[in-house]
Amino acid sequence: MPDSQLHQRFPELATSLPFLRLGAATPVRELALGTRNPLWCKDDGAYGDGGYGLRLPYYLPVGGSNPIGALGYVEGALELAAQIASGALPEPARVVTAVGSGGTAAGLALGLRIAGLRTRVLGVVVNDTLPLDAPDIVALANRSADVLRSRGAQLDIDPLRPDDVTMVRDWLGPGYGHETPEAVTARTRAATAGLRLETVYTAKGLAAALDLDTRANLGDGPLLLLNTYGPRP
Ligand SMILES: Cc1ncc(COP(=O)(O)O)c(C=O)c1O
Repeated sequence: MPDSQLHQRFPELATSLPFLRLGAATPVRELALGTRNPLWCKDDGAYGDGGYGLRLPYYLPVGGSNPIGALGYVEGALELAAQIASGALPEPARVVTAVGSGGTAAGLALGLRIAGLRTRVLGVVVNDTLPLDAPDIVALANRSADVLRSRGAQLDIDPLRPDDVTMVRDWLGPGYGHETPEAVTARTRAATAGLRLETVYTAKGLAAALDLDTRANLGDGPLLLLNTYGPRP
């Protein structure tokens, strides 16, 4: 069986889009944090601090957020879809991720569309120096779709539109790396469920998810926090 979820879905990419496997699918688990909605975590921290070795099949800019780099989280979304299909977790209403340069959110949005999931991306902006509004994110997602097509994928999806993703800046604080009180609280709360977050990226994401959980008017449903494993001492 082909190694990558993308290759399983598009065998025509097997030779045109080299794939580097980092490890097994990252684990998902429910977080017991007393939320109204079930709150799940996909723990990409399971990869730890590295392990890429010297095999570098692609050159990526800082942050990895170009159309090729965003394909990493297309693969991540397809991996998530496989986990949902296997019953490891329910289909989330929203997947919440920190947004630093946009590739994670863009790749997720495209991958979820390819997988046919209804899950929506909630991007929590943590960087004040880049344009990271919904139109920027979906433009990147659509350029990644073009890469797949240019490599031969028979990709039959509509282009993503800005209202397909939600971007929030309410958790940024004064700027990148600033430790907001909400992020500190979220980090402390995560620790009670054995999840180690940090306040540059992932605790800001959890702060947004916890806030979303309290807003019944935005629609209920399982929430999924993506632990992208930020910098730690
Ligand atoms: C730990 C962590 N989480 C999230 C992000 C955000 O990812 P992206 O740059 O793809 O928006 C980054 C990188 O910026 C990161 O290092």
